[in-house]
Amino acid sequence: MVSDLKNEIIDIKKIRKDFPILKSTVHGKPLCYLDNAATTQKPMSVIDSISDYYKQKNSNIHRGVHFLSEAATKDYEGARTTIKNFINAASEKEIIFTRGTTESINLVANTFGRKFLGEGDEVIISEMEHHSNIVPWQILAEEKKFKLKVIPINDDGELLMEEFDRLLSPAVKLVSLIYVSNSIGTVNPVREVITKAHQKNIPVLIDAAQAVNHFPVDVKELDCDFLAFSGHKIYGPTGIGVLYGKENWLKQMPPYMGGGDMIASVSFEKTTFNELPYKFEAGTPDIAGAIGLGKAIEYITNIGLDKIAAYEAGLIEYTVGKLKEIEGVKILGNPAHRAGVVSFVVENIHPHDIGTFLDFEGVAVRTGHHCTQPVMDRYKIPATSRASFAFYNLKEEADILVNAVRKVIEVFK
Ligand code: ALA
Repeated sequence: MVSDLKNEIIDIKKIRKDFPILKSTVHGKPLCYLDNAATTQKPMSVIDSISDYYKQKNSNIHRGVHFLSEAATKDYEGARTTIKNFINAASEKEIIFTRGTTESINLVANTFGRKFLGEGDEVIISEMEHHSNIVPWQILAEEKKFKLKVIPINDDGELLMEEFDRLLSPAVKLVSLIYVSNSIGTVNPVREVITKAHQKNIPVLIDAAQAVNHFPVDVKELDCDFLAFSGHKIYGPTGIGVLYGKENWLKQMPPYMGGGDMIASVSFEKTTFNELPYKFEAGTPDIAGAIGLGKAIEYITNIGLDKIAAYEAGLIEYTVGKLKEIEGVKILGNPAHRAGVVSFVVENIHPHDIGTFLDFEGVAVRTGHHCTQPVMDRYKIPATSRASFAFYNLKEEADILVNAVRKVIEVFK
């Protein structure tokens, strides 16, 4: 895989010119941005699409017959079609705009969950979930009296699939699983999980926040019932995200929020709801955000997710190899399939000190528990330093990271 880096399967140097922020300097050093799992940088086409919308088309959607409203509606709905094609959904009715992965999961908890979960039922999640796929279920479980079951992980940071098999009892009404761990980098065998759950007629929600930016994701092929992701982790704006849901489920689910646009008719006696997907999009949405997300998806589709996956795999393998050579560095987990993320701890140096030191070298990484406190508990550590990669990162940046880690160890010795 590392050979892919030499072959330059993507023209990274050219691509980097599309991202103005990558030219920045930090503390007098060139920015080495390795915090892509927290949020990705944006190409000019995304930035331009947002400012063009406000300069040329700003108006409300679905509400006016005037020229600007129709133009804005066309672009907003065009973005929905781009997303539908990107994940290979059956129709636009299955694509709901939300504020991000967190809201998408909360939407499912508060609609599917409220309707279909009750006392005696169980929901399966895993030990490596982000808090956003734990807390919404805990809040609802307390109210509806169902139980949350957790698939444990091994030292490599992989799901214990035999434990999953054991947990799949008739009481289970939903499996909600992260595709790629944001703190370990594990790519989970979601296809296998979905097949096993479906054999028992259990629907599956996939948190794809750290997946859709790294490799192709096809909801028909996966056959997942729900899939959530965020715009800002896929080179789009913050504040916009997607919930994919199979039409058959979405039709049965009650609305999430009430308000304008989600209704067919309102009277004090009875309100009827709009058709899909609008039933789940109350109020004026983030129109510019949706348009920007559409542009981001066009941008990465033009590069090709297969190429992005191959290039990033080489970069990650290279980085893991180099970090492993450093005495005192321990990498969190050792999954057979990894994407995007390398988390590590350094003997006797707190991750926050590492993060601060790296920042002065121009290197941006995230330190902390990464909204996965149960993962930190599993490994009995308070926090990690996490380098996370995008297709615009260079092998030279991996070297800058590795040298900076060597330096911090030298200084703290
Ligand atoms: N969930 C994001 C991360 O892992 C914020 O950094």
